[in-house]
Amino acid sequence: MRAFPRALLAGVMACCLAPAVMAAQHRLDGYWELRVPNPDGDGTFRDTYLQLRQSGGDVRGSLVRWHDALPLAGTLKNGVIEFATEPPASAPRWEQRPIVFHGAFSHGSLSLSMQDGDHTYSGVVMRATEAATEPPKPLPLPALQDLPDNGLARTPPMGWNSWNKFAGKIDDADVRAMADAMVASGMSKVGYTYINIDDTWELGRDAAGNIVPNRKFPDMKALADYVHSKGLKIGIYSSPGPKTCALYEGSFGHVRQDAETYASWGIDYLKYDLCTDLDVYPDDAPTLQAIYEEMGQALQATHRPIVYSLCEYGRGKVWSGWGEKSGGNLWRTTGDIEDTWKSMDAIGFSQIKIARYVKPGHWNDPDMLEIGNGGMTADEYRTHMSLWSLLAAPLIAGNDLRTMTEETRSILMNTEIIAIDQDPKFMPVTEVSHDGAIAVLMRPLHDGSVAVGLFNRGPVPATGTFSLASLPASFKGKQLSVRDLWQHAGVSLNNDSYATTVPTHGVVMLRITAR
Ligand code: GLA
Repeated sequence: MRAFPRALLAGVMACCLAPAVMAAQHRLDGYWELRVPNPDGDGTFRDTYLQLRQSGGDVRGSLVRWHDALPLAGTLKNGVIEFATEPPASAPRWEQRPIVFHGAFSHGSLSLSMQDGDHTYSGVVMRATEAATEPPKPLPLPALQDLPDNGLARTPPMGWNSWNKFAGKIDDADVRAMADAMVASGMSKVGYTYINIDDTWELGRDAAGNIVPNRKFPDMKALADYVHSKGLKIGIYSSPGPKTCALYEGSFGHVRQDAETYASWGIDYLKYDLCTDLDVYPDDAPTLQAIYEEMGQALQATHRPIVYSLCEYGRGKVWSGWGEKSGGNLWRTTGDIEDTWKSMDAIGFSQIKIARYVKPGHWNDPDMLEIGNGGMTADEYRTHMSLWSLLAAPLIAGNDLRTMTEETRSILMNTEIIAIDQDPKFMPVTEVSHDGAIAVLMRPLHDGSVAVGLFNRGPVPATGTFSLASLPASFKGKQLSVRDLWQHAGVSLNNDSYATTVPTHGVVMLRITAR
């Protein structure tokens, strides 16, 4: 997906592109390269290219950053240059804001400052060639085959990932602290196991082509040992493309070598994010399958149990079979979640129709949790947790575990809801009714009971009603016991239904058992 560049840029800072040392050509026309240091103190750079054309006092061209080529326009008058990107209306939300450039062009030398929202960047401006902006040529991919099941993730994986809260601002100390907090909070006791490092840990490659972490992660093996010493497991992130979504070093051309490196560090989980591989290969299901199979094979060849998490945003209907064949234990089914009701509601409810494709070891992943990140109400976060559990989605917390409120803790650690997510006999959720803002979902559970969610998707409190006629035939004529899983208490039924007020964007979760 066009997930990146701007989203990460929005989280970073700095000041003024250093004056370019330039000569040779005295016209602006051509390609220019900006080497913008990543601001998180990790010693890496982001390469950004400008293609500029001068016509009288007008400047036109584009800002080229892998799959993004944003048109730009501006002026050059008396050596003063000013231009800005002109994002097309179809650009994703995070690319709608123009990036503004100011500077000087004289005697073939270009100096610029680049302003992206509140952030101004520093870097070096140099002449470049068109070839530098082009993705590498594709490498051969493996012939399609069905990889064996690796036996992992019999229930949806549970853990924590750095991206939603920290993006690029994550380092070794934070990851250790998150492992400590997962134990201290009691999360590890209720099933949360994986501590997953997302994008921005990479520096580049050594002379032998081995991936090297940047200075935020001085010793991955020691970090993995630490996480393991807490009784937890550790995950890492990469892309099959030349660059990750945040434009860090990807695994392109080094797939097997990277899998071996992860295994040697003691890694237990890999999130493999398509990103810039979309610029290298065609975007069709067989090609995607081959791309993911290559890493699936490489992970299996290490003989270390490594959960394999595919992240290609649901392209090529990954859930329909090829995700599993490529060795995947879980696969993202959508674009990136945001910490808003709109995003969570849209993603969550869009998943019901594909819930039946899930089975033990192979899960749909509607993206990581935003619970506790502050953009939604407690009722909305209860909906998030309930909906993800009914879907049997991975429960990967995305908040700062060190500073959780009691309320966040009570949502992430509701064992009665987690039990639905982790039900040992997977059966898919279905929508049993939809009346105005109220959606009623039901999922059969291994012990013959059912989980029922009454969701209020509207902006005002509403009455949610569950008709007992919707229960499976095995409930007919039996005495029923009903438990409210957020109130942690039994509730009583009316004759043939259960009706209650559901708060705005909230949920009432029931577990109904026939006695
Ligand atoms: C993509 C993924 C996110 C995150 C970022 C990191 O956008 O979908 O979950 O991993 O990349 O750059």
